[in-house]
Amino acid sequence: MTAVTIDLALQRCIEPDCGARYGLNEQLYVCPRCGGLLEIENESNLTADAEALRRLWQSRLASPDERDCSGVWRYRELLPFSDAAPIVSLAEGNTPLYDAPRAARYCGLNRLKLKHQGCNPTGSFKDTGMTTAVTQARILGARTVVCASTGNTAASLAAYAARAGLKCAILVPRGQVSHAKLAQSLDYGGVVLEIDGNFDDAMRIIRELAEDESIYLVNSINPFRIEGQKTVAAELLQQCAWQVPDDVIVPGGNLGNSAAFGKGFKELFELGVVDRLPRLHVIQAEGAAPFAELFTRREQDSTADDLSETLIPVKHPQTLATAIKIGAPVSWKKALRVVTQTGGRVSSVSEREIADAKAIIGRDGIGCEPASATTVAGIKRLVNDGVIDPDEKVVAVLTGHLLKDTDYVIKYHQDSLYTHDRASNRSKEERHIAGTFSNPPVRVKATRAAILQHLESHDENHRR
Ligand code: F0G
Repeated sequence: MTAVTIDLALQRCIEPDCGARYGLNEQLYVCPRCGGLLEIENESNLTADAEALRRLWQSRLASPDERDCSGVWRYRELLPFSDAAPIVSLAEGNTPLYDAPRAARYCGLNRLKLKHQGCNPTGSFKDTGMTTAVTQARILGARTVVCASTGNTAASLAAYAARAGLKCAILVPRGQVSHAKLAQSLDYGGVVLEIDGNFDDAMRIIRELAEDESIYLVNSINPFRIEGQKTVAAELLQQCAWQVPDDVIVPGGNLGNSAAFGKGFKELFELGVVDRLPRLHVIQAEGAAPFAELFTRREQDSTADDLSETLIPVKHPQTLATAIKIGAPVSWKKALRVVTQTGGRVSSVSEREIADAKAIIGRDGIGCEPASATTVAGIKRLVNDGVIDPDEKVVAVLTGHLLKDTDYVIKYHQDSLYTHDRASNRSKEERHIAGTFSNPPVRVKATRAAILQHLESHDENHRR
């Protein structure tokens, strides 16, 4: 069987004016020459038999080999690692692609599929990139792995570092990480360092810290994270029987995920495994939407060339979707390239749209964390604006599990969800997010009659 092997991969600066190349085992995060982002590039002459690759990946679904049981390493032909790599895996990936009829109706679509990355071992999509980043940490002989995080990267890193026997330190904004995510990091043995500041502050400090060579940074600025995350594109397309969807929608925070999906789709297209690219749309939360702002600005200025515009960071990002409360996304240039190359759009949605979309995803029996629900809220808008046609094939990527932020869920259903922007002059009433689909618990008398009576009145209310 002829397949592809990446035997000549390297790290390359994405800046068109630079394009400097570095070896795979140089411990870098940005280009030492110009400060640009790095990405892994395959330098070998790719001679791929696309049909053979599709068959190989299909056959691995029934294989007990540890690498084949991982939804990342199953696609190892796409990864810059040799067969001897000391893989650190928790059988990540393998996440379901659900049909979501209720959410489809809500968005005005005939059909909607949800790729639930929250079904990963630590409950978020981060695991698909952490398996490759921590494997690279082992190859480099790192002893300490670190990240800045809004919670999910931290939980994921702590788990993979524990598997690898590495020391792990995590920098998080104090009081802004959900309890569930914090609990995971603590249980997996991560050293959790809480700072007064936001995610962007944590990111800045951790990058300074990683100048020390004994410390390996595994935020998505690290190109080996992106390599693992890009395989989700392969898993998704395989689940679609290699029929490419029209639109794929992802939430945007630090923008590593958007960059990874784009890289995955592009490589599969170049290999001939699929015959076209889906449009990749990115959705941000209104109070933390510097990328959406940049996209709108570029649209208004038709003379702007590819990467000539600059992202203007949001100094004090605000959103209850804490996972994406990010004002200075590191990977915006990579994400912009993907969105423009695929003809996608970048939008933002309000706190209320996020909260309601989240409850609707729940009603399909699926559920997700708030950041993930930006996708369904965004699709509703894109359908409304005529960007997406009701009968297009659409996939929303849910990035985190429902149980990642139960405080938010309980507050929504008990009608006590408020935005946090206390610095503004908005009254409590204006900050209230009324739960259109709220489903509060009810206190009933502990008797059979009282319970039956309640169920009957609930049925009637439901029918109305
Ligand atoms: N959804 C969830 C659940 C996330 O945790 C994140 C990012 C995103 C979406 C955005 O993805 O940054 O690749 O654009 N969480 C990071 C963290 C920042 O630290 O866990 P992105």
